Amino acid sequence: MDNNTIVGVVGSGAMGSGIAQIAATAGHNVVLFDNSHDALQRASAGLNNIMKRLIAKGKLSEEDASAILGRITFADNMDQFGDCGIVIEAIVENIEVKKEVFKKLEWITEDDTILASNTSSLSIASIGAAVEKPERVIGIHFFNPAPLMPLVEIIPSLLTDPAITLASKELIDSWGKKTVLAKDTPGFIVNRVARPFYGEAIRMYEEGFADIATIDWAMKELGGFRMGPFELMDYIGNDVNYTVTETVFREFFYDPRYKPSFTQKRLSEAGLLGRKSGRGYYDYREGAENPNPTEDKELGENILWRILVMLINEAVDALYLNIASKEDLDLAMTKGVNYPKGLLAWADEKGIDKVLETLEKLQAEYGEDRYRPSPLLRKMNRENKTFF
Ligand SMILES: NC(=O)c1ccc[n+]([C@@H]2O[C@H](COP(=O)([O-])OP(=O)(O)OC[C@H]3O[C@@H](n4cnc5c(N)ncnc54)[C@H](O)[C@@H]3O)[C@@H](O)[C@H]2O)c1
Repeated sequence: MDNNTIVGVVGSGAMGSGIAQIAATAGHNVVLFDNSHDALQRASAGLNNIMKRLIAKGKLSEEDASAILGRITFADNMDQFGDCGIVIEAIVENIEVKKEVFKKLEWITEDDTILASNTSSLSIASIGAAVEKPERVIGIHFFNPAPLMPLVEIIPSLLTDPAITLASKELIDSWGKKTVLAKDTPGFIVNRVARPFYGEAIRMYEEGFADIATIDWAMKELGGFRMGPFELMDYIGNDVNYTVTETVFREFFYDPRYKPSFTQKRLSEAGLLGRKSGRGYYDYREGAENPNPTEDKELGENILWRILVMLINEAVDALYLNIASKEDLDLAMTKGVNYPKGLLAWADEKGIDKVLETLEKLQAEYGEDRYRPSPLLRKMNRENKTFF
């Protein structure tokens, strides 16, 4: 595939219009379809505005911007996908609706067209099951906002043809993205490994270990994370973040490591969704006052360390279970969610023995499987090895 390949995108919402922008910027002709006329119009207006902003910032010439927009066809029916070399689906996260769309795509496109899904939480195997040739179905998972986030997870299913995996990876690499290969398991890499960033922060808050402002302060000031967990949950939306947590928990057959919290469930039920609703963990309404952190270095270091060991344990366990290579695991967390360091490299730096010791203490103290150390962590410690 090269930039003569026509790229189809189904769904012109937040992700679909971003993906269309990336492909058109890389020189492809793009067919962008949505079954809602309003959504297509919003996407068209949104892309126009983005181009204007890029011109104003001097990042794009007027000529290039109009060429990019000129390469995008806003389609009102799926037949226009007939000549596409790849179609990326970014519609509502519902398996039945996605299956219907893939069935239609199989009829409309050529036999060798790659059929990709941008799903965050559904298995690629289950989507592939809808079509006669699941060999050409693959997960291509962008992060939000797609044009700005460099990471893309490539997820072949059990039945995906390795040639399709390679072609997809090469295509997305040619768009200037960093691709990582992930196994078709819940949350793929990022949405699995990142769970404790939210979960352990909420747990400490529930226990009264520290308040939200202090936990956010510790993670940013002492840990170097761009946003604190509570700020980030308010930004993502507590409804969205809660749903991902609950889905991952269920999909892992209720492994207590991924157990959701009542704190977030109640916020979501009460409509305290975060920035978008004006209130979440913090109050965003005009004139509202928010708590100040207790800038206690020792407390802050304890907060950071507890979340960090839980994150490291998740990354180590993903390596142990062959979800991705060690290089891809570290790349995914730095490029997909802007972590200041890869978690495995961080483990090497802090000492695998120290990480293990803390997890064992937490497990003994709480008696919960949530804190069980990965067998690989024990093995690495026994053999006195490092990841890199
Ligand atoms: N928003 C994120 O942060 C994010 C990140 C990565 C992946 N994803 C995944 O990307 C997909 C889309 O998410 P989004 O946030 O862009 O959603 P969105 O709600 O912004 O957009 C979805 C669009 O799909 C359209 N649609 C629904 N059913 C359709 C159908 N049958 N045919 C054609 N169009 C249809 C809707 O009209 C809507 O415009 C989901 O699978 C989601 O899990 C989302």
